[in-house]
Amino acid sequence: MSLDERSALLIKYQSVRQQTERIVEPLSAEDLQIQSMPDASPGKWHLAHTSWFFETFILQPHCPDYDCFHPDFHHLFNSYYNALGTPFARPQRGLLSRPSLEQVISYRQHIDTEIERWLTEEQVDGDLANLLVLGLNHEQQHQELLLTDIKHGLSINPMAPPYTQGDGEQLKQMPQQDRDDLAELTWLRVPEDTYTLGSDGKAFSFDNEGPAHQRYQPAFRIASRLVTNAEYLTFINEGGYEQSRLWLSDGWAYVNQSGMRAPLYWRKVEGAWYEFTLSGLQPINPDAPVCHVNFYEADAFATWAGFRLPTEFEWEIAAWLHCQKSGAAGRGNMLDSGHLHPQAEHDELNAPGSSTVDGPQLLGNVWQWTSSAYQPYPGFRASADAVGEYNGKFMCNQMVLRGGSCVTPRSHIRISYRNFFYPHQAWQFTGIRLAGDDL
Ligand code: AVJ
Ligand code: FE
Repeated sequence: MSLDERSALLIKYQSVRQQTERIVEPLSAEDLQIQSMPDASPGKWHLAHTSWFFETFILQPHCPDYDCFHPDFHHLFNSYYNALGTPFARPQRGLLSRPSLEQVISYRQHIDTEIERWLTEEQVDGDLANLLVLGLNHEQQHQELLLTDIKHGLSINPMAPPYTQGDGEQLKQMPQQDRDDLAELTWLRVPEDTYTLGSDGKAFSFDNEGPAHQRYQPAFRIASRLVTNAEYLTFINEGGYEQSRLWLSDGWAYVNQSGMRAPLYWRKVEGAWYEFTLSGLQPINPDAPVCHVNFYEADAFATWAGFRLPTEFEWEIAAWLHCQKSGAAGRGNMLDSGHLHPQAEHDELNAPGSSTVDGPQLLGNVWQWTSSAYQPYPGFRASADAVGEYNGKFMCNQMVLRGGSCVTPRSHIRISYRNFFYPHQAWQFTGIRLAGDDL
């Protein structure tokens, strides 16, 4: 690698690591210690685990005189890589009062110093550079997880504390717009054809986004915008949660066992609906996209509305046809926008086929549940080493989500991106886009 390439990589490394530190800036050591459920991790654990990734996959194997920060961290901050030994049990991460937050911050600094030294002094070839880029994309995934886990943790507290204190300058809420401005739902029609799907691997992508392959697709249509809170409220008010015929069998069992009757963070206060957000309890904005629904709720809503969820392939084809040619994120509401909450979509952003910008807002606001099971693409092979456990081993019983959310870093998302969660999970920023057969 040339000197220029190295310094470009160093600048990228520093900017991603600093972004993580900005995210935890408003939080106390107590905020960063709690684990509100087995699926979530303490903020302190995220800070350590992202550093552990660079230590484990780059510094220990590829840096001859690397000076290990603490021998026990190898076990404590291993998330799920069985090839590296038995990881510490995830549901108990919140019980790790030691190392202290201060020690974890020193650990981060140690890793930063060592990575910077390694990048400037050692021979870094293309493969190793790719591993570093994987580490940066990994850290960006954890930036989103940090915010969703913090939100869940704060939501347990009856005081409904905001993530940010003071004037909330960081959370620039968009002014509520007139109902007239709300993007009208139109249908993007896509003709039957054989389409190429997946990442061609030229720019960075995760292994699960490839190989690129062809797929026959019958004609379909997909909504030009996301389902709104007002629409979802109608579903609730018309008894959506009480009608078994709208629900998949697993979904109906989950409704009955969990007692859920509204999206995860909705609260009814004196007859009016509010939702817990990263800026505390807020009135529901009827025009904003519905958020924090699980797959069962998304599917039941679509059935109630007379439509269905898109497959992940339909979503991707529509995005390639109607979004920016590069496949990168345009003006969608993402982490960089600073709202940390879904925003109403407006006509100017939604005009179908306005491919000069990003056309309909497929990227940003909320991850969109698809009807596709998370499965390998034809020809997919996970690598045989420990990094091979990153995505491939989770290809069972999870659903694919597309598009990124209001807490996804803009430089992290792309059209071929495949996120995945279990169908009952709703603590990520997850929403609904409708689709239908084009008959
Ligand atoms: C793709 C978001 C499901 O949460 O485990 C983090 C991301 N992978 N570290 C997850 C991930 C490795 C992953 N999801
Ligand atoms: Fe991870």
